[in-house]
Amino acid sequence: MSAPRSPAPDATNDVPVWDLGVRIFHWSLLVLVVAAFVTVKIGGNAMTYHAWCGYAILALLVFRIVWGFVGGTHARFTSFVRGPGAVLASLRGMLDRTRHQESLGHNPLGALSVLAMLAALLFQAVSGLFVNDDIAFEGPLYKWAGKELSDRLMSLHHLNEKVILALVALHLAAIAFYFFFHKDNLVRPMVTGIKRARAQPGASRHGSTALAIVLLAASGVGVYFLVNAAK
Ligand code: HEM
Ligand code: HEM
Repeated sequence: MSAPRSPAPDATNDVPVWDLGVRIFHWSLLVLVVAAFVTVKIGGNAMTYHAWCGYAILALLVFRIVWGFVGGTHARFTSFVRGPGAVLASLRGMLDRTRHQESLGHNPLGALSVLAMLAALLFQAVSGLFVNDDIAFEGPLYKWAGKELSDRLMSLHHLNEKVILALVALHLAAIAFYFFFHKDNLVRPMVTGIKRARAQPGASRHGSTALAIVLLAASGVGVYFLVNAAK
């Protein structure tokens, strides 16, 4: 009887990467951010829809923060938030094909841009609750802020538009760079949840879909009460 053969060193497996919670979050976020930009540029009555997009984005962000503690392996902040040494190593790996290492979730450098996007969008959604446009529109918590603070938040809300646009442009450029330079398709796992990789499938797991749905619903209810809290 021959001994069982160990797998070839470069054999690949289907490894679970982005769970349904992260994927729902990501693709809904994309649609809502685009819709928030389109509605605000239309202005007028479309500002109501701009505000709704903002509330929905806030609910998604609350969900994502909680999911960062209870979600699947690669959804957790502890799996991708790293110190400066790891960030520098991943920058070197990014620029040098021979040092590039297969990474399953966000690599330490990509994680920085993810955290920056989450922070910029969170600021935009929260500041939006307090703003006013001097004409017909007031955010639902305007009364709590008062005119002076509301005006200041309005200027920051405008300024942060540039930050969000720059971060999204960087995000898309990085994905294109990985695709063309490293032949690494990051988009497929964000669609299917699975990546073909050399790691063992058991090395990571997806979070519970039922829990993700409950937490998404709870975040939506929480934001609903917040938005109506000053009425
Ligand atoms: C408004 C536009 C977008 C925003 C605000 C955005 C935001 C984000 C965020 C916050 C994450 C982190 C996901 C998480 O850990 O929860 C992420 C990851 C990702 N996004 Fe986007 N995204 C946008 C557009 C896109 C588009 C158009 C694509 C595809 C072409 C894309 C592909 C990806 C991929 C592949 C990842 C995973 C990156 C990795 O493997 O580290 N995103 N995005
Ligand atoms: C993450 C969510 C949000 C995004 C991405 C976003 C995006 C933007 C952008 C890009 C602008 C500047 C438009 C321009 O200068 O042409 C803007 C303006 C504005 N936003 Fe938001 N916003 C969000 C949430 C909110 C929320 C929740 C509210 C209120 C409930 C709100 C109310 C406003 C108002 C009143 C303006 C000023 C419009 C004007 O000057 O005519 N936004 N927003």
